[in-house]
Amino acid sequence: MKYLAISLILFFSLTVTAFSVFATPSKRYDANTQTCRVLNSGPLEWETRSWGKGGKTFKQFCKNCHSRDNNQGGRFLWEESKTSTGWNNFFARQTAQCAKDGEWDKLTTDQLLLVNDYLYRWSSTSLDRNDSR
Ligand code: HEC
Repeated sequence: MKYLAISLILFFSLTVTAFSVFATPSKRYDANTQTCRVLNSGPLEWETRSWGKGGKTFKQFCKNCHSRDNNQGGRFLWEESKTSTGWNNFFARQTAQCAKDGEWDKLTTDQLLLVNDYLYRWSSTSLDRNDSR
């Protein structure tokens, strides 16, 4: 009986841990458009994965200048270079050199929003339940 109780407790704590580990942020507030973007269901759930539009645009566009050993002058960047809040502030302010140089104008507003969604979802803190929501 005691053994059963212990197994049950173990089972439940494992389940709870698993949920907290895999829970990426469910929504993101976008300051520029003043909208709330739902990231864990609907179309954005797909588009903010690495194979969706957000992930692909980051890899195919931003990474042109921000991969390791690139010759475009951008430093190495990846999803976890910033926290979720950090990425959101970064896109809200648009003060980076590449944004000021007009590089971002090559993307549509929608593409830029999706890159922001993607980075927000997979940032260095996105698996930290207390930070990312
Ligand atoms: C044509 C090249 C180019 C493209 C495309 C580009 N960048 Fe940059 N970016 C730069 C350069 C050059 C700098 C200045 C050097 C540095 O800080 O890396 C920079 C700076 C940055 C920084 C550092 C500033 C900071 O506050 O940390 C970030 C972050 C950044 N870019 C993100 C992005 C993102 C996200 C995209 C895609 C939407 C992007 N860049 C597209 C060239 C580019």
